[in-house]
Amino acid sequence: MVEIAPSILNANLLQLGEEVAKIRSADWVHFDVMDGHFVPNLTFGPMFVEALRQVTAVPIESHLMVENTAAFIPLYAQAGSKRIIIHAETGNHLHRLVQNIKELGCEAGVSLNPATPLSCLEYLLPDLDLVLLMTVNPGFGGQRLIPAMYEKIKQLRAIISERRLSCKIEVDGGVNLENAPRLVAAGVDVLVAGTLIYRDPDPAAALKRLRDGVQ
Ligand code: DX5
Ligand code: ZN
Repeated sequence: MVEIAPSILNANLLQLGEEVAKIRSADWVHFDVMDGHFVPNLTFGPMFVEALRQVTAVPIESHLMVENTAAFIPLYAQAGSKRIIIHAETGNHLHRLVQNIKELGCEAGVSLNPATPLSCLEYLLPDLDLVLLMTVNPGFGGQRLIPAMYEKIKQLRAIISERRLSCKIEVDGGVNLENAPRLVAAGVDVLVAGTLIYRDPDPAAALKRLRDGVQ
């Protein structure tokens, strides 16, 4: 079963509670944390996770696009994230950071920017609950998916199968109704979708259309 994780980045932020209520059938709420350094945009602090936790039963995954990853992991864990996803490009001690996430009781994911090779995860894959492959350069919603990422997904799926690991593959950026089936065929378990869902006048219907298109 493919999971859907709507990103609230392009939701109506003045009505976040109502916006999240529209996606109550989602598997995850995808929460994009940007610090204005690692990516050229600035978004939400941990208090938003805490606030959202009060109004939704859907588990929250925090995607940390920040330079100072080590300092932010505990804050987003304490705020109530079920899964924390960090970027391989930000940490000198990626293995230690992944262990920190697990010690805090969260699932651990590592994200790779489009240009970052899969090989950097060779010794880490058995420790991961999830790998998030960026299918756009992070920073903004509404970009086009980079076609070279299909091959990256297939290669990661082959590695995970060959090594008999349980780590899931998630993709983030430019997911739409046309490319979703191809992404799933390439090996994706979790689809993040931002503008596809929140730029639709009916986010609940958009979520259902995406789900129906990949089941
Ligand atoms: C991009 C973010 C994404 C983004 C996805 O940096 O990590 O989660 O919101 O938005 P769409 O689906 O519009 O590409
Ligand atoms: Zn994201």
